[in-house]
Amino acid sequence: MNKNWWKEDAADLPIIRTIPPGPVSQKMHSRTSKYMRGLSSQVKLFPVCFEKGFGISLSDVDGNKYLDFSSGIYVTSLGHCHPKVSEAIAHWAKRLMNCHDFTHPVKEKLLEKLAGILPGKLNAVQFYSDGTSAVEAGLRAARAISGRHEFISCFRDFHGKSMGAVSCAQMVRGDVFSYGPTRAPGFYMIPRPDPYRPHFKKDDGTIDTDGYIRFIEEFIQEGSVGNVAAFVLEPIQGWGGSIVPPDDFFPKLKKLCDEKNILLFADEILTGMGRTGEWMCMDHWGVVPDIVTFGKSFGNGFPVTAMVVREEYAEALDRISASSSYGGNPMACAAALASIEVIQEEGILENVRSTGKFISQRLEKMKGEHPIIGDIKARGFLLGIELVKDVATKEPFDEAGKLVYQKAFTKGLAWIPAGHILRMSPPLVMDEKYAEMGLDMIEESIAEVEKEFGYN
Ligand SMILES: Cc1ncc(COP(=O)(O)O)c(C=O)c1O
Repeated sequence: MNKNWWKEDAADLPIIRTIPPGPVSQKMHSRTSKYMRGLSSQVKLFPVCFEKGFGISLSDVDGNKYLDFSSGIYVTSLGHCHPKVSEAIAHWAKRLMNCHDFTHPVKEKLLEKLAGILPGKLNAVQFYSDGTSAVEAGLRAARAISGRHEFISCFRDFHGKSMGAVSCAQMVRGDVFSYGPTRAPGFYMIPRPDPYRPHFKKDDGTIDTDGYIRFIEEFIQEGSVGNVAAFVLEPIQGWGGSIVPPDDFFPKLKKLCDEKNILLFADEILTGMGRTGEWMCMDHWGVVPDIVTFGKSFGNGFPVTAMVVREEYAEALDRISASSSYGGNPMACAAALASIEVIQEEGILENVRSTGKFISQRLEKMKGEHPIIGDIKARGFLLGIELVKDVATKEPFDEAGKLVYQKAFTKGLAWIPAGHILRMSPPLVMDEKYAEMGLDMIEESIAEVEKEFGYN
């Protein structure tokens, strides 16, 4: 497969024929929202209606064509409708769509492929159709493996929207969680090491990872009842704003976990399958988790997710009623297998590392030139720009975040906001030319917003 397949539809990017969201988009959006509620904030802020995606481009119903800086929501990481992935799904859609959890040829191949790319005997697997279900299964697995029931996660983590998953996630005030008990008993949250906003600092003001580890140790002693099954953590927080921990955090946390006989559950649904330039984000730190979940990029848009535990814990999966109606169906396995093969055949990890370096250098340069950029977050193609009212006080600048998002979208950039932290997750096939195009649109929008707020 020619690795430049996506370029044939990218040469004319971006095209803005009607100022978006255009009239046809608006009409469709208002008809849809008559029935469909619970839309995400990015849709409400920019109600555009897409009709086609190819590679790194997205087209709307008003004749506009956008550069994709979101990959859906970290999902279509190999580009929209990658021919190899689409053909693999179509093949099984015509041959065998579901056979519950009986095996089939493509499942066998996928399991062997997955075991081959994951480190440290992470090879006991169950498949699901959404990230939340995989996380729920991971929580059940942790209880079955450890015989314990308490879980610790971090402030501003996100792991899905079922009651178990939200129990280890940030809760937004004023929403459904205000109406009753907040989280299930035995679920606790602790501060997350964020180098830009550290709770524990060394004398020179930089983050003190050992301070966090000491706090966690004390928390296990004083805050739990001595029954902690697992730490459930995103290696890099996505929803929380692309927060990259210091490099020594996970190695030190794993050491503590091993000393205390506590499992480390890495939720790699957003970070896994190449987004940060490694198969798993944890590979950056040489840490092999006990439980790991994959989703989003795993099937490049086809709903397929996985929960994996170390071989030594495999038998626990037989005790948690792990299977589901759709998990591991032939189309899903074909999508995941083809996606992994594409990552290998097209040198995707290498591209993420080199183009990711180019992007982070450009972001650092932007930071030096814009008074409202407080911090840059970058690991591979998992990126964020933190906007602040004042670099000294670090006060979050939410109003600017929304405006920059809307302005860049109007210029032809499809992307994801998160309050004052602008999140970016371009397709992993993207090269420097198109990365620069997207960053230009963002930088122009930041400059316009600075002007409007009287910074320049
Ligand atoms: C880290 C993480 N875990 C779990 C989930 C839930 O996945 P899904 O939306 O597929 O249920 C998400 C979704 O954004 C996520 O980012």
